[in-house]
Amino acid sequence: MAAKTILEVKDLKTWFYTRRGIVKAVNGVSFTLDEGECLCLVGESGCGKSVTALSILRLFDSPPGKIVEGKVLYEGLDLTTCAMPLLRSIRGKDIAMVFQNAQSALNPVFTIGDQIEEQINTHMPHHDRNSRQKATALLEEMKIPEAAEALKMYPHQMSGGMKQRAMIAMGLSCDPRILIADEPTTAVDVTIRAQIIYILQELKARRNMSIIFITHDLSLVREIGDRAAVVYAGKVVEIAPVEHILNKPAHPYTIGLISCLPDISADLKRLPSIPGNTPNPIDIPSGCPFHPRCPSVMDICRTVEPEMLNISGVQIAACHLYDANVTGKR
Ligand SMILES: Nc1ncnc2c1ncn2[C@@H]1O[C@H](COP(=O)(O)OP(=O)(O)O)[C@@H](O)[C@H]1O
Ligand SMILES: [Mg+2]
Repeated sequence: MAAKTILEVKDLKTWFYTRRGIVKAVNGVSFTLDEGECLCLVGESGCGKSVTALSILRLFDSPPGKIVEGKVLYEGLDLTTCAMPLLRSIRGKDIAMVFQNAQSALNPVFTIGDQIEEQINTHMPHHDRNSRQKATALLEEMKIPEAAEALKMYPHQMSGGMKQRAMIAMGLSCDPRILIADEPTTAVDVTIRAQIIYILQELKARRNMSIIFITHDLSLVREIGDRAAVVYAGKVVEIAPVEHILNKPAHPYTIGLISCLPDISADLKRLPSIPGNTPNPIDIPSGCPFHPRCPSVMDICRTVEPEMLNISGVQIAACHLYDANVTGKR
């Protein structure tokens, strides 16, 4: 039986109105997330991964940011327009977020323990009064040594890796149905990283938790992802099961990203890495935003933006190369 869709992001656009111009950080992102699924959002720095994540719970800076178009449907409820008290009750409880920058997401004047317990007591007042015990158990799960003592620490007393793990513990504290984790393992060493990945996989299996895992690291995608959505210039340009993304990428951008991986199959390794830079989100190129860097660019790519095309049922990519009307192959 097909898994149930729990979250649907539809043509989402989040723009920042700045003095320099309109920063089109998220410019038409669409994807679905199933129950018990881990969807990875991948792409180079600045492509709009974090703003996409923040937009789901309306946590971006506003102003200057604004959702100008699109929907975020959680079990059918549009989170972009629902009343603020309802959204607040969903944040942390139904959908939890682990921020990319643990430093700024933690409150410097409260201990880690107070912050985790506050989260538990806000959302689970009747079910789980023993919040200190739960907070200790969460830190232990995150392999933070002497968890009971660590709860008494202030953020500035912790290392970057410890703060990141404390953030994940906080994210998991109310047993969310969806965990959005934005580059959650960048500041931790490889053994801890493996442990965090293991815990997330275990929670996904045991509690049927859904995960949106944001990373620029494709080796992590291979470890944790069920599907991956490749983001470029504020748009999803390809979405497919992870094995398709890694072994038979369709979009030239995805092919470029995979070719930058050191340990991928020999034939892909020979491809050059991606020339040029990511576009400025104030001035996104016309047509296909990847066209100035694309090794397969055609005339049409400069003017007409490609739609998402079905490559193989489960694999979808926005590229004119797969449009039979353009290539005349059929
Ligand atoms: N508060 C903001 N004001 C203006 N621009 C922003 C703001 N937040 C993010 N951006 C811009 O949005 C774009 C996408 O950023 P982000 O989602 O953080 O990228 P990623 O997470 O993929 O590295 C970047 O160009 C970034 O500078
Ligand atoms: Mg980011």
